[in-house]
Amino acid sequence: DPHDPSKPGAGFTRRGFITTLGTGAVAAATLTEPGQAEAVPGAGLPDGAVMRPVALAINGRTHRLLVEPRWSLMYVLRERLGLTATKLGCERGECGVCTVLVDDLPQYSCMMLAVEAEGRAITTLEGLMRGEDLGVVQRAFVEQDGLQCGYCTPGQIMAVEGLLRATPNPTIDEIRTGV
Ligand code: FES
Repeated sequence: DPHDPSKPGAGFTRRGFITTLGTGAVAAATLTEPGQAEAVPGAGLPDGAVMRPVALAINGRTHRLLVEPRWSLMYVLRERLGLTATKLGCERGECGVCTVLVDDLPQYSCMMLAVEAEGRAITTLEGLMRGEDLGVVQRAFVEQDGLQCGYCTPGQIMAVEGLLRATPNPTIDEIRTGV
């Protein structure tokens, strides 16, 4: 009961709660100017948490947003930027389903903090598209039926893409160890 001062949570109304959430969402979505690098207090965040402005170069486009220093690159790609081709699996660097390219090299995005990705060139599965057409590796997976349930296919495609960017004509052994 928000009107009974003797009850826990008095004065904390549903409207006030929603307003607080809205303030936090606006803070999270605020774009920042280039070069602005100071941490800012986070509205509606856990005690001690701060939001930090970052500029992430993803698929040839710069995204400026506020992130918590503990957020993984995978979380920011999926939950903040809507790039959901990068999948969530084990979240501890074992399954590879979250693989993206960082400076053309495969990287588990669950094992990299978003703040660490600043200044690097990030490529996700969406970035392999050629307009409305599939990229070469994507098309090859479809034509060769190179998938089972398909959930981990984005990670496999990114691993192959990374291998071929580093080694355009790999041997069988390089393929075995490279992906
Ligand atoms: Fe499994 Fe990242 S989600 S390695």
